[in-house]
Amino acid sequence: MRCYWQPAALVDEFDPRLDPRMAHRPVKAVRLLGQDLVLFRDGSGRYGLLDRACPHRGADLAFGRHEPEGLRCPFHGWRFAVDGTCLETSAEPPGSTLCTRVRQRSYPVREQSGVLFAWLGPEGSVPPELPAFDCFAAPASHSFAFKGLWRCNGLQAFEAGIDPAHPRWPMTRVMREFCQPEIRFDAALEGLLRLTTLRPMTDALTHVRVTHAMFPATFVIPLSESITITQMHVAVDDTHTYWYFFFTSFGEPLDKEAMRAQRLACVTLPDYAPKKGRHCDWGFDADEQRTRTYLGMGEDDINLHDQWAVESMGAIQDRTKEHLGSSHKVIMANRRTLLKAIETVRAGGRPPMAAQIHAGLDGIARSLQAPAATTAPYGGEGSALPASLGEAFDALAGDAVLVDAFSPTVVDWLAHVKRFELARHDAADDKGDWQAREYFGRF
Ligand code: FES
Repeated sequence: MRCYWQPAALVDEFDPRLDPRMAHRPVKAVRLLGQDLVLFRDGSGRYGLLDRACPHRGADLAFGRHEPEGLRCPFHGWRFAVDGTCLETSAEPPGSTLCTRVRQRSYPVREQSGVLFAWLGPEGSVPPELPAFDCFAAPASHSFAFKGLWRCNGLQAFEAGIDPAHPRWPMTRVMREFCQPEIRFDAALEGLLRLTTLRPMTDALTHVRVTHAMFPATFVIPLSESITITQMHVAVDDTHTYWYFFFTSFGEPLDKEAMRAQRLACVTLPDYAPKKGRHCDWGFDADEQRTRTYLGMGEDDINLHDQWAVESMGAIQDRTKEHLGSSHKVIMANRRTLLKAIETVRAGGRPPMAAQIHAGLDGIARSLQAPAATTAPYGGEGSALPASLGEAFDALAGDAVLVDAFSPTVVDWLAHVKRFELARHDAADDKGDWQAREYFGRF
């Protein structure tokens, strides 16, 4: 999970209109992947994400004093900038150089589409660009982000999103009346799945629903003809998960204020914890179930239905007692990918999609060898995909992320070798189709 950007907070959480405390002290305790952190914004508007335990004697920096230049630990007054630089070691004698030898571990933060993303990779690692998702490319007027806390393990939360037999099953007539769909999936890349769910309704009419899932915890579902929902799940710890979602409109601008108000009515701040949950049986009403709705939990908040499904399994579902059917082949495929990814990381490799993300904003598109777009949504320029392997090698040699990670010499050498191999391949006149495919497959 540390090979990917993780959503850490909504930008809204620093908005004094939603949380008046933020007007004077924009500091938040954050827990991500089982790690305790403190997120804050300094007087210049820069965000910093630091380990919570002060490097002096371990006091909790989430209780720190917010100052324009950084965060001051209230125990002995040490002060830290957003990048973890120690600015002051109060109480040390004049002339002390201790400050220059202390640094708090900090984590890069990126603000994107209303969400603050954190890079929790190894110290000193260069974070990649964020993936080139539509929700990130859309202008602010066409994108809306929100989040919610679920009291369950992150994997079971994510698996609800890639369970195509269920979506909206409890509350949507189409899903209920045509409840034996044909489910297909294909992997464009390892870790990049396209799920197609077909529900023949009449001889001439088939309901088609396409979901894209990207390892480890992102999927995109259609809400309407012009709006998609992108969900990203991030583990707080083993038994709590935040699900972030982005509405992306490919048509009209979104009424973000109305959407925010509608969502805020269902949660309590500052944790974005749903008002309904296990403590109140998720608002279940047996009479309502018998007479009015399929699930008996109202129709105003459909997210409550998913919440019930994943929380009612228990904080960590006992999968030794489940019985997956053929409609769950996508869940099985995802679990196989997950197990393989764990082995890959144990062996020192990169898990699925991390390499593509590291290749830059267009890394996924390049991997798919997609044709260069001639038009792009929102009137932007088409992405400049390489038209040939030669061009790709030129791009490789100039890729700032690779150069940063491996040094210009290594990247130059790699590009040189690849150009040489390509020239030799082009010059050979006895290669068959199979050899050509095999050769190019290696790229
Ligand atoms: S423990 Fe933080 S300044 Fe001493």
